[in-house]
Amino acid sequence: MAKAVSKKPVAAKKAPKTARYSRILLKLSGEALMGETGFGVCPDTVDFIAREIKNTVAHKTQIAVVIGGGNIFRGIEAATSGMERVSADYMGMLATTINALALQNALERHDIETRVQSAIEMNEICEPYIRRKAVRHLEKGRVVIFAAGTGNPYFTTDTAAALRAMEMNAEIILKATKVDGVYTSDPVKHKGARKFSTIRYIDVLKRGLHVMDSTAISLCMDNELPIMVFNLMGKGNIRNIVTGKRVGTYIGA
Ligand code: GTP
Repeated sequence: MAKAVSKKPVAAKKAPKTARYSRILLKLSGEALMGETGFGVCPDTVDFIAREIKNTVAHKTQIAVVIGGGNIFRGIEAATSGMERVSADYMGMLATTINALALQNALERHDIETRVQSAIEMNEICEPYIRRKAVRHLEKGRVVIFAAGTGNPYFTTDTAAALRAMEMNAEIILKATKVDGVYTSDPVKHKGARKFSTIRYIDVLKRGLHVMDSTAISLCMDNELPIMVFNLMGKGNIRNIVTGKRVGTYIGA
């Protein structure tokens, strides 16, 4: 017997807009994961970030992530209160690994394939950092989360982001912050602060704007790697940047 054919028109699947960037590096601070809780990992916030990444992956953009650890442990603060800087920094690197696993878990709950690679070997819990393998994962559409910074004390996770972005040949760093770009001064403290739509690396350094630390900015400047500073909690911001919409502040040459 012939099967009845449904007359109902099938809605054409909306094709995602073409991405402007084919490979990006997303820099998340540890604080971004704690949401309003003030400490640790807030499940709702991590879930929000995972959704934002999922929406961007749909545009076929390859995503690498470098994550900080300040929601759990801040090496530099511990060092100022008497702890040896090197030990404090290693503790901070371990904190980034906790965050990487939390984000991996959230992404996997949204069926996004991920791999965590750590700059400090912890083979039982994640892969070691191997550049060629990380590139291969990205090519296969997996989100690669880099943990443990550069693996060295005295280097921030912002510097790790600049380093990994260059190693991965990413076209841009998306630096997630609490505000929607780079301002002349802290917009939370100063009402008159003005936002830059674009700014040169050298001006970020000269004006001492605390966007990323100077090592990270210098590394990007020397290698002409652009940075987009944006508000992580703005829904659709990552996808909008990737599809070429103007969001936040563009830092370039
Ligand atoms: P392809 O072979 O390119 O498809 O990559 P793959 O990551 O799927 O293959 P692989 O066999 O390398 O890894 C399979 C699983 O084991 C993945 O979930 C990896 O993240 C994980 N894995 C690989 N190497 C290590 C490691 O050194 N430590 C840990 N903990 N997991 C690893």
